[in-house]
Amino acid sequence: FLKAAGTLLATLVLAACGKQEAPPAPAASAAAPASAAAPAPKVYVVGTDAAYAPFEYQNEKGEIVGFSVDLLTAVAEKGGFQVKFQNTPWEGIFNALGQGDRDLLISSITITDERKQTMDFSDPYFDAIQLIAVKESSKVAKFDDLKKAKVGVQTGTTGDEVVTKLQGKTASTTKRFESTPLALKELEAGGVDAVVADNGVVIHYVANNPGAKFKTVADTKSFAPEQYGIAVKKGNAELLAMVNKGLAAVKADGTYAAIYKKTFGTEPPAAAPAA
Ligand code: ARG
Repeated sequence: FLKAAGTLLATLVLAACGKQEAPPAPAASAAAPASAAAPAPKVYVVGTDAAYAPFEYQNEKGEIVGFSVDLLTAVAEKGGFQVKFQNTPWEGIFNALGQGDRDLLISSITITDERKQTMDFSDPYFDAIQLIAVKESSKVAKFDDLKKAKVGVQTGTTGDEVVTKLQGKTASTTKRFESTPLALKELEAGGVDAVVADNGVVIHYVANNPGAKFKTVADTKSFAPEQYGIAVKKGNAELLAMVNKGLAAVKADGTYAAIYKKTFGTEPPAAAPAA
C-alpha cells in the first residue's frame, strides 16, 4: 500500500509540475501581468567613456547623461530596442565591444578606416574636427607650431593620432592621458603647452572653466573633418539596421535637432551628416 501511495503521490506531483509547465490558456495569458507573459525583452548594453562633456558625462548624481545619451535613447525608442548605458574607460572600450561585454558603443567615436576593420559603424550622427587648446598668453597660431611643444592628448583618440603624426611615434613631447579632462587639467597646471582634442569637448571645457584662462586655436587646413558613429560588433547587421532605422527617424522628425539645441543652444548646422 505504501509503495502504491508513493507512486500515486509521485504521479500527482509530476502531473502538477506538468500542468505548471504547460503554456497558459490564451485568456489567462492575456489577463496575466506582463512579467509572467513573455521573457523580458533584451536590453542592449551601451559602452561610453563618460568623461566627455557635453557628449557623455556623469551628472552630480552619477548618472550618465549628455548629447549621446539623449540621442541613443531616442534612436532606440524609434528603432524598437532597449538600451542601458555603462561607463567604460576609453582605453578598453573597443575590446569590450569585440568581446561582447558591450553590444553598442556611443562615445563620440570618429569613424575611421582603421576602426572599420574591427567594428561596424552606424550612419554618421555628428561632425567634428580637432581643435587646439592653449593658455590665453600662448603664441601658438597653428598646428605646426606644436611640432616641438609638449602636447596633451587622450590616448588612442584621433587627437593622439594627429599629434603622433606631427611629432613622431617616439617623441617624448606627446603626453598621453587616460581622459581628455585630465589632459586639459594638465594644461591648466602648466605641465603641457597645448591639448589637441575634439572641438565640441574643447569648446565646452573652455567655456565652463574661465578660471583656466584658455583659448582655442582652430586650424582647419591641418585637420581632416571627422564624423561620429555608433559602433556595433563587426557583423552584427541586425542591431546595426535597428540603429540606422532609429537614427534616420530621429533626424527626420526633428528629435535630433531638439537634442542638438538642448545640448549646444543652437540649431544643428545646415549641412548635417546625411541620413
Ligand atoms: N573622436 C575622438 C576619437 O574617436 C575622441 C573620442 C573620445 N571619446 C570619449 N568619450 N572619450 O578618437
